[in-house]
Amino acid sequence: MFIGEGPGFNEDQQGRPFVGRAGQLLDELLASVPLRREDVFITNVVKCRPPENREPAPEELAACSPFLEDQIRLLRPRVIATLGRHSLARFIPEARISAEHGRILRWRGIVLLPLYHPAAALRSTAVRSALEADFRRLPEAVIESLRVAAGASSFADQTPSAHQARATGPTGSQPGPQDDAGLATSQDSRQQLSLF
Ligand code: URA
Repeated sequence: MFIGEGPGFNEDQQGRPFVGRAGQLLDELLASVPLRREDVFITNVVKCRPPENREPAPEELAACSPFLEDQIRLLRPRVIATLGRHSLARFIPEARISAEHGRILRWRGIVLLPLYHPAAALRSTAVRSALEADFRRLPEAVIESLRVAAGASSFADQTPSAHQARATGPTGSQPGPQDDAGLATSQDSRQQLSLF
């Protein structure tokens, strides 16, 4: 499951996430793994386009939070890749994207891979290189999720915020349904739905 920030102009017009230039780059990055859009679920932390493409306000993030919560509960992804700092902050509020990008973390038994936002990678070659390198850790993140499901000892990156991510969910919300190993499992997260 890939989670971006919020719909931009093109996404607002088409009612689908990541269909503009950032989406084209996301497609290229997926192909490098290799994955196709239909192999993953792509969504955003805020479900409506903030006017003038401004950053989402805290009350907008809070208003959309239950919808994302429901998507995670229903899809039960094994791996969540956050795209950009707003998405990462949704799961680990105190985390800094510059420190955590590319690290394999854990949130409520789900493997979390913080990534830079593709739009930032379009503006900076350094960010783009980092994003490409971090994307190459996706197979490892999937393997880690299988280890978690099997109850094997973890090799996830250890950071203070990673420990915190394991211990707490966002803003005191309750964990969703989990399997015996404590991992949310995915039956049909392969399906790309036209939802933000
Ligand atoms: N940027 C995002 O964060 N989400 C989209 O859907 C498109 C661009």
